[in-house]
Amino acid sequence: MTDVLRLSGITKSFVTGRTLLGKPNSYFHAVRGVTLSVARGETVAVVGESGAGKSTVGRLALRLIEPDDGGIEFNGSDLRAASKEDLRRLRGRMRMIFQDPYSSLDPSMVVGDTVAEPLLVHTKMSAAERRAKVLDLLQRVGMDTHHMDRFPYEFSGGQLQRIAIARAITTDPDLIVCDEPVAALDMSIRAQVVNLLRDLQVERGMAYLFITHDLSLVRLIADRVVVMYAGQIVESATTEQLFAEPRHPYTRALLAAVPVPDPNRRKSQTAIPLAAVQGKPPAKGCSFAPRCPLATEECTVEAPPLAEVAGHDVACYHADHVPVAELSEGAPGTPHPRTELLDPH
Ligand SMILES: Nc1ncnc2c1ncn2[C@@H]1O[C@H](COP(=O)(O)OP(=O)(O)O)[C@@H](O)[C@H]1O
Ligand SMILES: [Mg+2]
Repeated sequence: MTDVLRLSGITKSFVTGRTLLGKPNSYFHAVRGVTLSVARGETVAVVGESGAGKSTVGRLALRLIEPDDGGIEFNGSDLRAASKEDLRRLRGRMRMIFQDPYSSLDPSMVVGDTVAEPLLVHTKMSAAERRAKVLDLLQRVGMDTHHMDRFPYEFSGGQLQRIAIARAITTDPDLIVCDEPVAALDMSIRAQVVNLLRDLQVERGMAYLFITHDLSLVRLIADRVVVMYAGQIVESATTEQLFAEPRHPYTRALLAAVPVPDPNRRKSQTAIPLAAVQGKPPAKGCSFAPRCPLATEECTVEAPPLAEVAGHDVACYHADHVPVAELSEGAPGTPHPRTELLDPH
């Protein structure tokens, strides 16, 4: 499989303070050495709590913001070396869908023009061709053709997100970065919009970098999952592997928060209590250590590198201990030595 997107060691800090003379003197390290790839037609979910750096990764991937360090390859070419003109051309091949369709669509533009705009920029289509294509796209995302001449305020959030999706796919992109695309929508229509994205992917073979803090969505849409904590990847695996056997204590904690129909499973997975810790990650060692139920002394000395454990990439010195699910299924009376760390009771 060829990769549409490859990020290698991508890093981004934001200036958070300046001296009186305006010289930056404090920084927030939002993304710290993130390496990931997305294959053609694949969906890679990026998950993690708010502030983990997910949106920043998405924006870096499309070079909407400049990285401090690291490589970005899009369809095999170096995106960091791309000229303004190259970038402008490539923008038709890589698109973004944002969480809030109210602010991502131009309120002063009728829907037909909003959807047609990328065609105007990236193709030489005639007005008639553009109109035909827009009609076709609007129908495809479940909108009526008479919606063409209406303004964004006339639509619901779910309809607006369908319009944003139509706009994103107008130029047949290879990659769409979807940043929490359904988080702002009513529960009842989230699944519809996710299903639309999935169907469009099957039809068109686009790849998605799907940013979300909602793990129940990940199961529906993602082939692989990347878990971020404090600007770094702590685990990545196929969706199946990640849900069946989460390895990083943070991944386990995230999964514990997902409602699962099977009550036994739910019980075993909630057995990962995290310490509540405010503020910055520690200066050395594993960022997650202050909250981690498994942390030992070595975790506070040097950060664990991302390494392969049973088909997962995991940054944890304790990634190979017995998974929680197995603990709860084990024979009664034979507790695993680590049980006391995992069981809050
Ligand atoms: N332009 C910016 N200036 C300063 N800090 C920023 C900026 N953008 C993001 N951040 C900070 O970087 C961190 C990661 O942000 P973000 O990538 O939006 O996280 P997520 O999408 O996972 O919630 C947050 O703490 C956020 O406040
Ligand atoms: Mg975000």
